[in-house]
Amino acid sequence: MEKIQVHEKTFRLCIPYEKIEKAIDAVADKLNRDYKDKKGSNAFLCILNGSIMFTAELMKRSRFDAELLTMKISSYEGTTSTGVIREVIGLSGEVAGKNIIIVEDIVDSGNTIEVIYNDLKAKGAADVKVCTMLSKPGCYKKDIPLDYVAMEIPDDFVVGFGLDYNELGRNYKDIYILDE
Ligand code: IMP
Ligand code: MG
Repeated sequence: MEKIQVHEKTFRLCIPYEKIEKAIDAVADKLNRDYKDKKGSNAFLCILNGSIMFTAELMKRSRFDAELLTMKISSYEGTTSTGVIREVIGLSGEVAGKNIIIVEDIVDSGNTIEVIYNDLKAKGAADVKVCTMLSKPGCYKKDIPLDYVAMEIPDDFVVGFGLDYNELGRNYKDIYILDE
C-alpha cells in the first residue's frame, strides 16, 4: 500500500518491510558477534508498546542466551513529544548485575532513552546498551551512545511496524511517513 489513513492523517510509504528486514538482519548480526562470548547474564528490555515487533524480530535472529524484560513508557501525544516521560508499567524483573539491551522502536529527542538508561544504571545493571530500530539524528540531543541503530530517518513523524499515531497504525508491516 502506498498510502494509509490513521485517524485523520494520511501517511505515505517510507520504508518497505523488505528493507526493514535487511536492516534488522544487520543489527542482529552485530549483536550476535558482541554478545556471543560476553560474560554475565543478558536481557533484552522491550520498551512497550512500540518495540514489540522489533523485539520479536531481533529475538528470532539472536543466537545468545538472553531473558526478556519489559516496561512501558509514554511521552508522545499525537505527533509530538510532551517532554514528560511517564512510567506506565514498571520493570518486569531484576536488572542488577545484568547486561541490558534496551530495545526501542525509535529514538527522537532522546528524552525517553535517557530516563530509562539512568534508571537501569541506578538499579545496578552491569552494562547498558541501546538498540533502536529507528533514530532521528537531526533531533537527538543527548550524550548516551546509540550502540545499535537499524535505520536512520529524517525528522518526520512515522507509523507502522509497532509505531503508532495515538495508538493506531502499529499493525502495518511497512513504515509510513506523514504525508503533508
Ligand atoms: P524521545 O523521548 O523524544 O526520544 O521519543 C521517543 C518515543 O517517542 C518513542 O519511544 C516513541 O514512542 C515516540 N516517538 C518518537 N518519534 C515518533 C514517531 O515518529 N512516530 C511514533 N512515535 C514516535
Ligand atoms: Mg515507544
